[in-house]
Amino acid sequence: MKSNLTDTAKTSGKTYIIWAHPRADSLTAQVVDALKKQAASQKMDVAELDLYRTGFDPSLGTEDEPDWQNPNKIYSEEVRTLFAELADVDNIIVVFPLWWYSMPAILKGYFDRVWNYGLAYGRGQRIPARSIRWISLVGGAQDKFETQSKDAYMNDLLTSMALYGGIEDSKVEYLYNTIGVEEDIQNPGEHHKQLIEQAKKVVVSLAQ
Ligand SMILES: Cc1cc2nc3c(=O)[nH]c(=O)nc-3n(C[C@H](O)[C@H](O)[C@H](O)COP(=O)(O)O)c2cc1C
Repeated sequence: MKSNLTDTAKTSGKTYIIWAHPRADSLTAQVVDALKKQAASQKMDVAELDLYRTGFDPSLGTEDEPDWQNPNKIYSEEVRTLFAELADVDNIIVVFPLWWYSMPAILKGYFDRVWNYGLAYGRGQRIPARSIRWISLVGGAQDKFETQSKDAYMNDLLTSMALYGGIEDSKVEYLYNTIGVEEDIQNPGEHHKQLIEQAKKVVVSLAQ
């Protein structure tokens, strides 16, 4: 696996963006690009993990299966490398399209493998970052999502994962109507611009 860590030497806390989308020109990718530019304008160090373009394998095999009797188990090189990338990170931002009221499998696999027993949790271990922000692009509309309590369900899932990794400061941002066909979004280009502006505020808030 080739690491796609792109560091820029800047002055303040480091932000690590983990993201998942098969297309490098997707709206998800455009959001990530805007986040990186916003972070750079705030003099934040930025590192990026583009799971698709790095060829990350999401499938947890025996090499990375936790051994509950041995929190010091040595996992695969890919897992050790990616966990080491978190060592000096202050803020994690995870960006993903909502797929089946969840995250893309490649991103789930990242958590399965990299946030592993003895590294991210167990025997006093934790993710070193102090905060995590989740940005999920949602095809459908906000009112339906909230009426059906999908936001509460997702918030609970994502915040539980953060807490298991020892990160108490966890917030979720939803970018709604990314498809916009059923909701009759008249100007998708303008709507997407607004979503990108919404996402940038997440980075702004990290500096406050
Ligand atoms: C496999 C798959 C599952 C999806 N599941 C949902 C879903 O559960 N709820 C929803 O609102 N949109 C769903 N969508 C729509 C995506 O959220 C939408 O395509 C995405 O937010 C658009 O961002 P993108 O242009 O970067 O792909 C799904 C899309 C795919 C491909």
